[in-house]
Amino acid sequence: MSALFSPFKLKDVTLRNRIAIPPMCQYSAVDGLSNDWHQVHYASMARGGAGLVIVEATAVAPEGRITPACLGLWDDAQVEGLARIARAIKAAGAVPGIQIGHAGRKASANKPWEGDDHLAADNPSGWTPIAPSAVAFGANLPRVPQAMSLADIDRVRGNFAAAARRARAAGFEWLELHFAHGYLAQNFFSPHSNRRDDAYGGSFAGRSRFLLETLAEVRAVWPENLPLTARFGVIEYDGNDEATLAESIQLTRQFRQGGLDLLNVSVGFSIPDAKIPWGPAFLAPVAERVRREAGLPVASSWGIENPQTADRVVAEQQMDLVMIGRVHLANPHWPYQAALALKEDKAAWVLPAPYAHWLNRYRPG
Ligand SMILES: Cc1cc2nc3c(=O)[nH]c(=O)nc-3n(C[C@H](O)[C@H](O)[C@H](O)COP(=O)(O)O)c2cc1C
Repeated sequence: MSALFSPFKLKDVTLRNRIAIPPMCQYSAVDGLSNDWHQVHYASMARGGAGLVIVEATAVAPEGRITPACLGLWDDAQVEGLARIARAIKAAGAVPGIQIGHAGRKASANKPWEGDDHLAADNPSGWTPIAPSAVAFGANLPRVPQAMSLADIDRVRGNFAAAARRARAAGFEWLELHFAHGYLAQNFFSPHSNRRDDAYGGSFAGRSRFLLETLAEVRAVWPENLPLTARFGVIEYDGNDEATLAESIQLTRQFRQGGLDLLNVSVGFSIPDAKIPWGPAFLAPVAERVRREAGLPVASSWGIENPQTADRVVAEQQMDLVMIGRVHLANPHWPYQAALALKEDKAAWVLPAPYAHWLNRYRPG
């Protein structure tokens, strides 16, 4: 058996293989509520054979949505639709996961295909973003956010815990805190966006405080036997990478001590002009270093689409799970193609029986 198709156990959860579908916003919700689009999308992703399907960034508060069309979990009424999605993912043999987050200064934007920029300040669909400091991202996201008061910080931490409780009520078995991609938690950690001079800014400890406290509040409500994970931008590609990575690894160790079970290693995306070295699996060596130096299982993504590459990064212990995103949008049955490419015995059995039975007898190509 290939490394990619070996099972992975974390806490009481066992994934059937190392393929995970990372959170990918569908920008198709109304009032934070999921609908038929989400139901069909996530069921088809899970049917394709991945071990883990993580539902897109789901906002813990209305002002934490990236766009007005993002999913939410700030209201009990949002649980039922997500519960149907979690059930469909599980029925297809994958573990249902969800990412909860707050978009911070990048909130109140258009859908990517409608401009991918901040909604105009006078657009009635928009709102004033909040962030640690009144510093804009820039470029396509020029709105200056409102700096958060200590009461705001308390409230949003509580929003994370309440959303985690609702995620569990909906049946999710894997929780990912969105601490990456230039959204609120990353805004606190990054000196590019955090200019505070109180306990939530300045030093490494100050910039880490919101993330650690949020983790602690969520840990207190999320079941001990289920994986609690975070996606974190460990590097910015801003010319200061060694220092950022050293801090990120130190914080990841503290996450581990605070009860985090796995880190989804990603990029900070805190500045518009980062020099990101895009290329196949470019983040794998960074993920490997975080895994080794922080002593925590890791997942990662970005540009992994070749089954041999996916297998290699697991076999070489660069990551425990491989997040395969956009390729799944093109081909929800990528795990089946990967199983064929890696010459897995009975490759089609990564698919549900109504497909697998026939495909094990008939192999296209
Ligand atoms: C349509 C789309 C939506 C995304 N939404 C999210 C999201 O909700 N949360 C997140 O952490 N990353 C999000 N991402 C990033 C993906 O999770 C993933 O890291 C990225 O696509 C790189 O992996 P890939 O090269 O396999 O696609 C999104 C990416 C895409 C293409």
